[in-house]
Amino acid sequence: MNEILIIRQPKTRKEFESMYDLRWSILRKPWNQPKGSEKDELESDAYPFIAIFQNQIVGTARFHKSNESFGQIQYVAVEEPFRRKGIGAKLLEAIHLTAMNQLLKFTILNANETAWPFFEKMGYKAIEDGPSLFGELKHKKMIRRFSRNDLKMQKIMKNLRNTLLPE
Ligand SMILES: CC(C)(COP(=O)(O)OP(=O)(O)OC[C@H]1O[C@@H](n2cnc3c(N)ncnc32)[C@H](O)[C@@H]1OP(=O)(O)O)[C@@H](O)C(=O)NCCC(=O)NCCS
Repeated sequence: MNEILIIRQPKTRKEFESMYDLRWSILRKPWNQPKGSEKDELESDAYPFIAIFQNQIVGTARFHKSNESFGQIQYVAVEEPFRRKGIGAKLLEAIHLTAMNQLLKFTILNANETAWPFFEKMGYKAIEDGPSLFGELKHKKMIRRFSRNDLKMQKIMKNLRNTLLPE
């Protein structure tokens, strides 16, 4: 059945291309940025995620570890007709789980004005003005600290890392 929402990392070259197309069309094209501007030098060290519904990529987000405490979220985008249906939240949940797996304490991002309410719902707080993008979009640096409950998950991960299956 294709009627389920799947959140996972892209695997095939075609999936990577569709993901970059989506990033570009939502986050770069409206500001006349050329193809290619939707990628950066961190791609090979980052964890990209895609949301798939009915065999189509309808959303994406990317995570990378910045240091031992912080991870950064970038390129969060959901196709317009699919917005306000919970897909962005599921993409962030997958990223938060990845960050907890890595025992990080915070995730940070640079959010444009229109996305502030979304990130606030996802537990982020604005801490300072961020760099404005393409001279137009107002941004704020936002941060989310993992809660006590999230830290329980980190404990699980620590325990799992020390657990081996019997030979
Ligand atoms: C920001 C974006 C990724 C949100 O994705 P989404 O799938 O629509 O978000 P969700 O449906 O998962 O929303 C999660 C929660 O945030 C709320 N929310 C989402 N967008 C909102 C908005 N514009 N205003 C107020 N609340 C909003 C939802 O109502 C939901 O709240 P609930 O849990 O109480 O129901 C999407 O709007 C988008 O792609 N925007 C264009 C690209 C962009 O600006 N990306 C961010 C770059 S910094």
